[in-house]
This record gives sequence, structure tokens and C-alpha cells, in this order.
Amino acid sequence: MTVPIFHCTLRLRSYILLVSLLLLSCQQNNEGQRAAELQSTTPSWYANAVIYNLNVGSFKDSDGDGRGDFKGLTSSLSYLSDLGITAIWLAPFQPSPDQDDGYDITDYFGIDKRLGTKEDFQTFMKAAKARQIHVLMDIVINHTSVEHPWFKSARADTSGKYHQWYVWASQKPKDFDQGMVFPGVQTETWTFDEPTGKFYFHRFYDFQPDLNYQNQEVRLMARDVLRYWLKQGVDGFRLDAVPFVIDKPETGAKDPEHMFEILDELTAEIRKVNPEAILLGEANVAAEENTDYFGKDATRLQMMFNFYANQYLFYALAKGDPTAYGKALEEFRDKPSKGQWVHFLRNHDEIDLDRLEKKQRELVYQRFGPEASMQLYDRGIRRRLAPMLVKPELIKVAYSVLFSAPGAQMIRYGEEIGMGDDLALRERLSVRTPMQWNESTSGGFSSSKETYRPVIAYGGYGYQKINVVRQFKDPQSLLEFVKSMIHLRRQHPEIGLGNWKIHPSSQLFILEYQYQDKRLLTVHNFSAESRTFEPASDLSKDRLRPLLSGNDGKTIPAYGFQWFNINSGS
Ligand code: NOJ
Repeated sequence: MTVPIFHCTLRLRSYILLVSLLLLSCQQNNEGQRAAELQSTTPSWYANAVIYNLNVGSFKDSDGDGRGDFKGLTSSLSYLSDLGITAIWLAPFQPSPDQDDGYDITDYFGIDKRLGTKEDFQTFMKAAKARQIHVLMDIVINHTSVEHPWFKSARADTSGKYHQWYVWASQKPKDFDQGMVFPGVQTETWTFDEPTGKFYFHRFYDFQPDLNYQNQEVRLMARDVLRYWLKQGVDGFRLDAVPFVIDKPETGAKDPEHMFEILDELTAEIRKVNPEAILLGEANVAAEENTDYFGKDATRLQMMFNFYANQYLFYALAKGDPTAYGKALEEFRDKPSKGQWVHFLRNHDEIDLDRLEKKQRELVYQRFGPEASMQLYDRGIRRRLAPMLVKPELIKVAYSVLFSAPGAQMIRYGEEIGMGDDLALRERLSVRTPMQWNESTSGGFSSSKETYRPVIAYGGYGYQKINVVRQFKDPQSLLEFVKSMIHLRRQHPEIGLGNWKIHPSSQLFILEYQYQDKRLLTVHNFSAESRTFEPASDLSKDRLRPLLSGNDGKTIPAYGFQWFNINSGS
């Protein structure tokens, strides 16, 4: 018999309250226990990581100077915890003249004063650890800024040791105008340097001279840098521009020789300080090169971004047909068991569509970035996800595909609320505008009206409409959806660790996972037509339990999806 609480005596009421609290705490304990179980079955923290990428300067300003800082980030950790992410990847935060948004460093051991002090960084690290959030930092060791004291010295004294730390040629190399990473903006990779009368090599902009990794001192320096930050407590690094760190520029721009042993050395160094720490590589390479980059047993890179799957996902979405995406996942299936793929939709750069065939790329442009101002470097799109995909159901299916992709996942700040882009900003800055927290001044990013980069303050993506607080209050918002997908993802370690297979289907994308006693099936409809889902015959004995509301799992609406637990039939 249920007892209406308002008819009870005070004693009985207290008793009921106590029982409810006990039940609640029991439920929470069960969840905690389940999370702990998952942890203990997870061999490495990174296999099932959900990584959140942000720029300290664009995230949250604590002191009203118009630029985000570590204090602001620390105060936002409860938001990130609630979102459910398990790791943060910090974009470069070391001193820099900021000609490439921090990817041009002048001191590897420092913290950009504008972002805070060493103490602020340490406070942030402590607070992140307290919330069990791992911290990865960008490490940009392929090149320095031209303003770095090492390069200044290299220019001033050609017989000094720092001269050898960079890559020089006395004669203009034949391929001086080949191999640019930013074509259309960058015109050469070897630039004449007046003071030395020589040419220096720069894979990226001319203000980013490449360090010479054939020089042992440079290699030792790189290891020192890693050791230093590991001792500050970071859990690993997003290694910038991996193929260029290890190439030998004088062997040609097209197909240079690589020194993979450098990656072995870096990982060995990391292991000495923290055996659990990792290198997450930015290496947009072809399928047959993956093994070389991971190394046998992931002794080189432990994680790699899956750029290949990313571009084929946009192609498949543009076409309304998942086949090419499934094929891309298959082509990138091989990896060492201790290595992990990181899937993502958007990052801080353009969507790189370089590996698509011309016709495929044209289709993606046509669908998601038709104007010249939306395209960049003759290979990509410089837009955020929401303005590209527009339809809420298309955005949601993209997220569901992401969180069910075999590997770990990464999302970029602001994508969880569907922030827009600012095409008036140059190159990739279009997708790096400040975080939109609420409807107050500068979108709650800063108390100042003058921000170091404009907050989007107009149109459908302006902070007045798109912000965290507004979406927090709306159970139907993108933020709530993304949060629920992250939480669902974390309940399924089979996605990071299990065996997977794609079920043949011309209409739907059907992925099955198996890990220990867990089995999961995810079904996605990339098209604008609803589709019928008929489980493959080898599943006919099993019971499929839908995990999401919204459809019955039999008819998958246009851009719809469903996840199922598979309970084995006897
Ligand atoms: C790759 C980074 O993702 C990009 O933002 C940067 O401009 C270049 N490396 C140069 O560091």
C-alpha cells in the first residue's frame, strides 16, 4: 500500500525521507559501481576516452581582459564534468607571438602570461585531477616561432650550436615551392634569410622554421620538453604535425624519408616518467602507413586521429549513403591492440578532404561548403558543424555515428551547443571564436565588451540564441542530446575495446560490437527517407533491446538511429 506522504506523522515522514535517500544513494552507488567495473575492465584509460578540445584563450575569461585564462577554465570544470568528458586536450598555451594561434612557440617551458601563471596552471591541473579528468596538451615541436631565442641565435651566428637546430640550404632547393601545408596562403617551403644568406625550411608558414630532427640535441630537447610537462602532471600530448617532425626535408617534398625511431624515443621517454601517459598523433596518413606510425604494440603513438574516417563520414552524409564511411573504417581497421583511433567530427582546423577523390570532394563542398569563402587550402571547409549540416536531425545522426565509431572520441568546444563560424575571420580562425556561455555581455565569455577575438553576436548563431545556459534549460537542446550521447558512450566500453563488424546493408549503417559478455548494435540512417531495419539472420535468435527513445527500432526515420543491447538467445 502506498502512503501519501502528507498524511504521515512527522516521524514516519522522516523515516520515508531517510529510506528514499538510502534508495537514491544505493542507486548512485550502483552507478558508481558500474563505472568502477567499467574502469577495471578497461585496460587503459585512453581506450574509451571522450576528449574535449579547447583553447584556454577562447574558453572563459576570469579577469575581464577579454581573453580566456586558466582561472576561467578551472571555474568551468563542473560544466565539463557534467558533460561527461573524460579528458581535455589543451591547444598550445605556451608563450607565442600568436601568428598561428599559439602554434608558433617562443618558450616550451613557459605559460603565456595572458593565460595565467604557473600557479594558475597547477590549480587547474589539480582541479581536473580531482574530477578524474585527464589532461592532454598540444606539443608543437616540429617548428618554433621565428621569434624563439633559438632561431634568433641560429640567424645571428651560423657557427653556433643553434644554427644546426634548424634546417638550412645554401642554394635555393629545386622544390622550394613544393610541399606547402597551407597552399594559397603559403607560397614556399624554403625561404631566403637575409642575415645568413641561406634558405631555411618551414613546412608551415615562413614564421615557423622547422627544427632539425637529424640533430641529436634537438631530439634530446624534445624529450626534455615532454618530461617537463609530464612532471607538471599532464597525462599526455597531442603531437602536432607528426609526419613532419620525423621527415628528412632534403629527401624531397613529395615522398620524404621518415625517422620513425624518433617516435619510439619520445614514447620511451614518456614511459620513464609516467607509463600511463600517451602520445596522440596528428598524422593524416594513408592506411598502409598506420602501422609505421603506431609502431608494433603502439610503442610509437598510442592514439591517432582518424582523419580518413572523418572525411569519408562527411562524404557519406553528403551522399546520404553510408557505404563509403563503412569502407573507410574497414581500411583503417588495423592497429595494435594497445593503440587507439580517435574519431571526431570537427577540430580546430579546416575539415581536410584531401584524401577524397575530386568528385567526392566536390559533392561535400556542394552540400556543406558551397561558397568560396567557406573553403580553404584547396582541400577543406572552414566551418563549424551546425551551420554546415543545418538540420537538427542531421547533426544528431552525425553525433550518434561519432559516439558509436570504433575507438575513442573527441569533440571541439562549442560544438556541443552548435556554435556557428565567423567567415570574416581569416583562414581557420573562423572556427575559433569564443565560447558562448549565456546571453550577457560577450556571451558570458568575458565581462569585457572588447574581446581578443570577436564573439559571434549576430544572426541565428549569435550568443543571444546559442549559449550554454539557454540549452541547459531546454531538455530538447543539442547540449542535452550531446550530453546523453556521451553518457551512453561511456556505458559501452565495447566501442573502444570490442571486436566490431559492419552488417551488409545498402540502406542503413549497421555496426555490431562484442566485448566480453557485452554486445551492442547501432543502426544509422544517413538518408532523407525512412528505412526499415531487419536484423541479419544471425541475430534472429537474439533479443534486441533498444536503448534510445524516438523510434521503435524497426522503422528508422530519415536521419534516424537506434542503439540496441543484444541479449543472446539460448
Ligand atoms: C597542425 C595544427 O593543427 C594547425 O592548427 C597548425 O597551424 C599547424 N599544425 C602548425 O603547427
